[in-house]
Amino acid sequence: MAIGVFDSGHGGLTVLRALTEAAPGRPFVYLGDNGNAPYGPRSDEEIYRLTVAGVEHLFAQGCGLIVVACNTAAAVALRRMQQTWLRDAYPGRNVLGVLVPMVEAITRVPWMVEAPLAGRLPEPRTVGVFATAGTVRSGSFPREIGKRAPDVTVVQQACPDLVPLIEEGAPDAAIRPAVRRYVAELTERLDGRPLDSVVLGCTHYPLVAHLFAEALPPGVEVLSQPALVARSLEHYLERHPEYAPAGGTAEGPRFFTTGDAARVSALAGRFFGRPTPFETLFETLGG
Ligand code: DGL
Repeated sequence: MAIGVFDSGHGGLTVLRALTEAAPGRPFVYLGDNGNAPYGPRSDEEIYRLTVAGVEHLFAQGCGLIVVACNTAAAVALRRMQQTWLRDAYPGRNVLGVLVPMVEAITRVPWMVEAPLAGRLPEPRTVGVFATAGTVRSGSFPREIGKRAPDVTVVQQACPDLVPLIEEGAPDAAIRPAVRRYVAELTERLDGRPLDSVVLGCTHYPLVAHLFAEALPPGVEVLSQPALVARSLEHYLERHPEYAPAGGTAEGPRFFTTGDAARVSALAGRFFGRPTPFETLFETLGG
C-alpha cells in the first residue's frame, strides 16, 4: 500500500524527502493543498474540513497510511479525525501526524502514556516553539509536552510572515529580519530564563533553519522535525506489516496539488531537493 503525505502546500516536501530517504522502497503519494494555502490563518473548522478532504483523496488514491505533514493541520484536526471519523469511515487505515515524534523526543515519554514516567523525567528546561498562528492557537505543543514533562517550560511564537516569504522563494536577506524579530519577541517572553532547545514547528522552516541558528544564542539545540518524523515512521512500519507495499519496485513519489501544477512544480523542487513534477488535482478540497 502506498503511503500518503498531506500538506497545505509544498512545505511538507521537507518531510517527504526525509521519509523517502528512510523508506526508499515504499511508494509515496504527495498532496499539497496549494489552492487553499496557507492554513495558518484559517479557522479550526476550515482546517478540519480541508484536512479530512485531503486525507480522503489520498485514501481514494490507494494509500492505506497517511502522514499529515502540516503542523497546523496535525495540531488542529488530527485528534478530532482519529477519535471518530477515521475509526467509523476508514477502519484499518491510519493517519499519523508530525507533532507526536517531536513531543516524544522532547519528553522521552511514548505518546500513548499521556503522563510523566517515573524515573524518566527529563531535566527541567525551556523549549521554544516557532510555528504558524493556527498551531500556536491550538496549544497542542505546550499541552502535550506539559502532560508528559511538567518541568519543561514551553514558550511559543507565531511567525505569520515566514510561510509566504519562504513559499515565494524570497532571498535570505528578505527573510532574516523577520526571523530575528520572532526570535527577539520569544526571547523577551522568557523573562531571563535560558533557552535550551527550539522546535521549528512548521514544514517550511527547515529551509530557513540556518537563519534561526544565526539569530538564536549559541548552544541552543534546533530540533529537526523531518528527521524525527522519518525515524518514527520507520519504527511504526516495522510494527505494522499490514502497510507493506504490494511488491515490485516502487517508482518515485507522485505529486498532486490543488493549485497550479506548473507554478508549484517550479517552486517546490528546492523543498524536496529534486524536481517535483506536480499534477493538478481537478477537485476542490472540502467542497
Ligand atoms: N504547512 C504548514 C505547517 O506546517 C505551514 C503552511 C500553512 O500555513 O499552510 O504548519
